[in-house]
Amino acid sequence: MCDKSKCSCKKKGGQAAASVVQLLESEFTKYLEKPSNSLLRKYLTRDVFDKLKTRKTRFGSSLLDVIQSGMKNPDSNIGVYACDPEAYTIFAALFDPIIEEYHEGFKPMDIHPPANWGDPSVMPKLDPENKYIISTRIRCARSLENYPFNPTMTNEHYFEIQDKLSRALESLDGELKGKYYPLKDMDKETKQRLIDEHFLFKEGDRFLQDAHACEFWPNGRGIFYNDKKTLLAWCNEEDHLRLISMQMGGDLTAVYTRLINAICKMERQVKFSHDKRLGYLTFCPTNLGTTIRASVHIKLPKLAVDLPEFEKIAGTYNLQVRGTRGEHSESEGGVYDVSNKRRMGLTEHEAILEMGKGIAELIKKEESL
Ligand code: ADP
Ligand code: ARG
Repeated sequence: MCDKSKCSCKKKGGQAAASVVQLLESEFTKYLEKPSNSLLRKYLTRDVFDKLKTRKTRFGSSLLDVIQSGMKNPDSNIGVYACDPEAYTIFAALFDPIIEEYHEGFKPMDIHPPANWGDPSVMPKLDPENKYIISTRIRCARSLENYPFNPTMTNEHYFEIQDKLSRALESLDGELKGKYYPLKDMDKETKQRLIDEHFLFKEGDRFLQDAHACEFWPNGRGIFYNDKKTLLAWCNEEDHLRLISMQMGGDLTAVYTRLINAICKMERQVKFSHDKRLGYLTFCPTNLGTTIRASVHIKLPKLAVDLPEFEKIAGTYNLQVRGTRGEHSESEGGVYDVSNKRRMGLTEHEAILEMGKGIAELIKKEESL
């Protein structure tokens, strides 16, 4: 763990090194020559850049750690990552407007509501005749208290976090009981099968690689799952922990109940990083707050004929459309991943309800066509 009394990061406070500022200047100038529609381009004005370029967190991270992925990938949608929990404060002039735009108006003075899982039994029955929904998945993300995020993590941090999380996960019981599998020990075929079945994260995401989020790979990375593969956890992929509940069909109540059960048990064993204003802290600002992404794999052939229009309609319910293999993937066989977009400024219960109501509306629209 990052023991503040011993850790070298304590000595690293203050100003970013002159060489870092110089590199930032030259990379930023080159970046501005390329077209980009990212939120990084929109909000990193020259004024904001000049204000932030010399800053450094107590973990030793600089603006370069925050924007390197977005600068290397001008086709990013967002383009920034928090190198450690303190980045959200030190670089607030950049993060705040991005958070506000992504999370539909969560303003710098707003406070994310306290966690509230609510009553899972009141969720709408999404597709009782099993006509449209193939599977349902809800995930949340957590970071361990006192640790930095990817670009600032050491090899030891990866192993320590894996150790703490795998022990906590393997103590889950009943329906949740399962085993942790380190990526290091997994053969290529098993890995590919788990990816194809939508259980395991894929490797080689250029946005994460360029954010320096894949250092020491595969050390400290792995997956946990129970016998039925209805409760899963990813360790040290994008976030320290992703906890996932999923199953075939559209039973949102069952999937949500299992996630609540698992995360509450995990929270009794591990201290997670939480901020009074931002809620649970994550590597990417799109995942802050509840950290909830509730999705269905769904076939809506009539609506999906015109993909931009389908995305537009989904957007009116605050829903986001992804391909079959998740973010940055295409649809396979007409299957889309539709999920809630915003995760902040509402409770966990409200986030799931927003997704449930939106999906019910999309199904109604499909049936009217
Ligand atoms: P996340 O933001 O949750 O990490 P990704 O877009 O990277 O999501 O997707 C992770 C994996 O989860 C992918 O394999 C994707 O196909 C799978 N997935 C997402 N939603 C569902 C769902 N409802 N049913 C089955 N698999 C899903
Ligand atoms: N950095 C990428 C982009 O800006 C991904 C952002 C959201 N996704 C995520 N997995 N955090 O497009």
